Amino acid sequence: MFITFEGCEGVGKSTQLALLKDYLKRTGQDAVYVREPGSTVISEKIRAVVLDPENSAMTAETEALLYAAARAQLVSEVILPALAEGKTVICDRYVDSSVAYQGYARGLGVEFVTAINRFALENATPDITVFIDLRPDGAFRSVSRDDRLERESAAFHDKVYQGFVAQSQASNGRFVMIKPEKDKFDTHRKIVDALRKRGAIK
Ligand code: TYD
Repeated sequence: MFITFEGCEGVGKSTQLALLKDYLKRTGQDAVYVREPGSTVISEKIRAVVLDPENSAMTAETEALLYAAARAQLVSEVILPALAEGKTVICDRYVDSSVAYQGYARGLGVEFVTAINRFALENATPDITVFIDLRPDGAFRSVSRDDRLERESAAFHDKVYQGFVAQSQASNGRFVMIKPEKDKFDTHRKIVDALRKRGAIK
């Protein structure tokens, strides 16, 4: 089972991933946890380049290709081998982030981003994508804004959100939309229920 988590900046995605990890541990369910961009030595180096605020001259095309390159390495080094062993893989962001950020918000278009990622993905497509469904207004302003993407405008982050919603509608049920509750544990329970209902976890 290949499960991905998506959402805009500062919506509590990392908190929910940590709560899910605790739940799976407590209930004796093993999983491999990775994040994007990163989780291999090479992908972490690419992450440092792509998020570095000093790289303000980076073109949208370069950015999209770097995310795809980090992904290609993670897919072949970690994700595909783990899935082949029958393990559950849980990934913090994946190709849907590229479509939302580079395709929609940067304006490269869904086709271009999908094409370069087809090459990177080697058919490793998620079974389920949990989307933390919160518009970024206000939410991302509370985070530290210490990387290149976080520094983008509110309009940029709104386009990211629109990009995720559009993908969800076209995803044939792969996306599970989770509206966050005030209490993080209520949101956690919603996620666990949704994943259990789909047989992704016990
Ligand atoms: P990170 O600090 O991991 O953000 P978050 O905690 O919100 O997941 O930084 C990853 C950043 O990279 C984030 O701003 C989203 C962006 N991103 C893309 O633009 N395209 C991508 O394909 C991926 C995976 C991430």
